[in-house]
Amino acid sequence: MLEVRNLAKTYGAVVAVQDASLALTPGEIHALVGANGSGKSTVIKVLSGVVRPDRGSIRWNGAVINVASPRDARRHGIATAFQDFSLIPTLSSVENCALATRQPAKVVARWLDEALDGLGARFDVWAPVETLTVNHRMVLEFVKALAQNPQVLILDEITAALDQEQVDCLFGRVREQMSRRPVAVLVVTHRLSEVLQYCDRVTVMRDGRTVSEHPVTELSRTRLAELIVGEAEGSGSMDHAGTAPPVGEPHVAELVQVSGRHRVSDVTLAVRRQEVVGVSGLQGQGQDELLSLAALFDHPKKGEIRIHRRAEGESEGGRRTIVPRVSQREIARTVGYVSGDRAHRGVFYRRSLTDNLFAQAYAMQGMFSWISLSRITRQTREILERLHIQGHPEQRIETLSGGNQQRVIFGRLLLNPFTFVVLDDPTLGVDIHSRRAIHQLIRAHREGGTLVYSSDNDELIELCHRVAVMFEGRIVEEFTDHELTTSTLGHAMLGRTVQGRETR
Ligand SMILES: Nc1ncnc2c1ncn2[C@@H]1O[C@H](COP(=O)(O)OP(=O)(O)O)[C@@H](O)[C@H]1O
Ligand SMILES: [Mg+2]
Repeated sequence: MLEVRNLAKTYGAVVAVQDASLALTPGEIHALVGANGSGKSTVIKVLSGVVRPDRGSIRWNGAVINVASPRDARRHGIATAFQDFSLIPTLSSVENCALATRQPAKVVARWLDEALDGLGARFDVWAPVETLTVNHRMVLEFVKALAQNPQVLILDEITAALDQEQVDCLFGRVREQMSRRPVAVLVVTHRLSEVLQYCDRVTVMRDGRTVSEHPVTELSRTRLAELIVGEAEGSGSMDHAGTAPPVGEPHVAELVQVSGRHRVSDVTLAVRRQEVVGVSGLQGQGQDELLSLAALFDHPKKGEIRIHRRAEGESEGGRRTIVPRVSQREIARTVGYVSGDRAHRGVFYRRSLTDNLFAQAYAMQGMFSWISLSRITRQTREILERLHIQGHPEQRIETLSGGNQQRVIFGRLLLNPFTFVVLDDPTLGVDIHSRRAIHQLIRAHREGGTLVYSSDNDELIELCHRVAVMFEGRIVEEFTDHELTTSTLGHAMLGRTVQGRETR
């Protein structure tokens, strides 16, 4: 058994970990959960010999062991896949794995392709790691840790950038390894379904402390969420769309038999005002392209896309249609687009919160030229307050946690009464508090309708009135109400039809 006892670590005035204790048992997958900044990564860095704690001990079967460096960690059989990567960017995947496993490059090259392929990541293993996508780097980070044949395997938010199928494969590989040797596994994830589905035991962290430990079988999803945010039992903290779909509302966006240049094929989908429509699917089924067509970034090859906007001064009944060939300015004030993908969401790290909020508005030359600086500052303050972000409008965004950065970016949606909002994986890798703030923001959007893609089916179930599932470029199923469950979505994602339902 590997134990961490009473760990503490401060960085200057920042208390990263106050008092953390954790026990990992060989043959078990142990989840470490908690909000962003609760100290999870710091505990992991101590276990990996990357960070020296101020206080506390690490014990192996009761005896104190010294993990003063990554080398010590390796000697004790501890291998870690890090959230912020341990890969050397200028070296290839083969070279990185050769360094970690002490095997010749030739040997590594032989197994690496196959290992990556098994996790749905196909790429050139001889290319420098810096040229790889985040998804591929995460998979590589995992494969590299596993290849060290560890006694203790630690995965710090590796699954955040993976799709459902890859997550399945990853835990499959972990279990396979465990069947050969009793590995103790520690997993950090924000996705509660991963904890409930794949893990045996869970430790909860809050504000630098480990507050409790539970066998997963004793926990409901709701209870687990409550433990993370620190709410009393039964206070009903789970979010659910819950409300009936807005049937009487007019359509704000219609895609009619739309095909794209790449994958999207013959998609018909409409979104009503006040409606949140989800798009689900395994990676690469055409969701990206569908979103970019719906947001009018791309022209369809076939079919028609209509976004309806009530013109100013027009009566309730009057609507107008805008189609992809209108002016950029018209599109920008009608269709809102935000991505939760850190690489693509457009965060200007060294700029202020205000600049980050107004980035799109600034870019739309002239559109906001009539707003005074004091008004911009006032608006920024209001938005920060609404999103529960402690911060000053002039503060640089890089000083906020990842989750709070994401809230600021989604705050852009509050600047303009968009008719139609397109969201790409809105809460990718953010903690439960930020996820809630972002969900509230999405649901509070009463002026228009929303189309949202998420790599997390639970998020779609929580958030959406209706979810369309894509498979090989087409929408194969749509689910609402009681039919909208993890199991129906999961089946449809694999291109299977749900029993008793007709295929379209
Ligand atoms: N190197 C560092 N310097 C200063 N503060 C840090 C450092 N590493 C972590 N922290 C702070 O310690 C707290 C816990 O961080 P971390 O362990 O990364 O949390 P988690 O992984 O749970 O999100 C956060 O407030 C973070 O800003
Ligand atoms: Mg972390």
